[in-house]
Amino acid sequence: MVIGSTLGGVPIQRIVVVANRLPVAWDGETWTISPGGLVRALRPVLQEADGAWIGWPGIPDFAPHPFEYDGIEQRPVPLSEAEIDGFYYGFCNGTLWPLYHDAIVAPEFHRHTWRSYVAVNRRYADQTAVAMRPGDIAWVQDYQLQLVPGILRELRPDITIGFYLHIPFPPIEVFARLPWRRQIVEGLLGADVLAFQTRSSADNFARAARRFAGATSIGRRDLRWSGRAIHLQPAPIAIDTTEFEAMAASPEVQERAKELRSELGDPEHVILGMDRLDYTKGIDLRMKAFADVLEDAPPEERKHAYVQVAVPSREQVPAYQQLRIEIEQLVGRVNGQHGEAGWSPISYLYRTLPFLDVVAYYVAADVILVTPLRDGMNLVAKEYAACRLDDDGVLVLSEFAGAAEQLKSALIVNPYDVDDVARALRTALAMPLSEQRSRMRKLRKSIREADVFAWARSCLETLEER
Ligand code: G6P
Repeated sequence: MVIGSTLGGVPIQRIVVVANRLPVAWDGETWTISPGGLVRALRPVLQEADGAWIGWPGIPDFAPHPFEYDGIEQRPVPLSEAEIDGFYYGFCNGTLWPLYHDAIVAPEFHRHTWRSYVAVNRRYADQTAVAMRPGDIAWVQDYQLQLVPGILRELRPDITIGFYLHIPFPPIEVFARLPWRRQIVEGLLGADVLAFQTRSSADNFARAARRFAGATSIGRRDLRWSGRAIHLQPAPIAIDTTEFEAMAASPEVQERAKELRSELGDPEHVILGMDRLDYTKGIDLRMKAFADVLEDAPPEERKHAYVQVAVPSREQVPAYQQLRIEIEQLVGRVNGQHGEAGWSPISYLYRTLPFLDVVAYYVAADVILVTPLRDGMNLVAKEYAACRLDDDGVLVLSEFAGAAEQLKSALIVNPYDVDDVARALRTALAMPLSEQRSRMRKLRKSIREADVFAWARSCLETLEER
């Protein structure tokens, strides 16, 4: 079946996305579309399929009526201040986020935040149940809403339910610590199709479902539980490659990229890090690797400029506050040791940049360091490759990013091994143009073949077939 296909103008299957956040934000006067890959990929599908989006409008205790924006029905789910504390900061970002990322930071287990997670998931499920027509597809997104498929299945056995996990599903040895592991697995098993970024996340979930919910496996990609079949689908998310290519080619971006290089003192090499400020990203370890490489070059040569963009995130969670302090101390230490009056080797920007500047940095950078300690996918790696229109530039990529399953021509590193990252950075800085090009061409080919539209098509077609 074709996505969003119509029968005499009547959509056959309507798609309702259920996500923590709505794709629009309220600035006090008007709604504006929130930029982001998921929104861009689903916009045409939802417009065509008469679709709806259910999510939090991003402001506490704000409960506007459903409305239409950009041809898509928006159905806000209100969250109180206490729920934002318990559900969002507490259980989502204090428990699930660290647990699912290898417990890099110790996950906290609190019964009161779990209760808030259950209550909020129930509200999302209730509001979804009301919005669905018989035969519709509900497509639930990410770790914030893992109980929604199970609750929705009970309320509306007549609809198709899909779930997509944007972050890794952890190995069973780590997942097993969660006091509410059975409830989470059973919540997810309410879906008809569970999709993951990587094959290993799908395998991890299959093991957890067998162990904690008594599901049985039928082959590697199907489970049976409670008299139903559940399909597990590896579906790596991607970007709108043509959009990044077009933006990178624009005169504004080209001009801005030149300006950036000259503002950095026209160094021989511009090295870039572009991340949300998150302890999963490995920003501190990579800065240590950069400091090692600086030892090779006398400061008066000013050969390397490293720009680290750190986008503020979850600033009320203590682990994020602590990380910010540590990174800023490290920047100070490296610059203090290797800089001179009027020149610092690390330029550190703690802010959200406009899209034009993000792309201009990708265009300006000779090397990008994408070295997360664990990452569901990491779209920065794909965005950088899309913007390298001349096929030059080097991607240094962590073996623990989902993207490493696809982007095999990158320089793959163990981000915990500072010597390994420093070695890869030296290799990148000395890499002949011919080798840069042969690697980058392969990377760009793979992201052109598998863009975000192909991703959405493959997920939704699997759901339409159920
Ligand atoms: C990750 C998650 C998303 C989340 C985003 C930003 O990419 O997979 O679900 O929306 O981080 O985090 P935030 O907590 O600000 O929504």
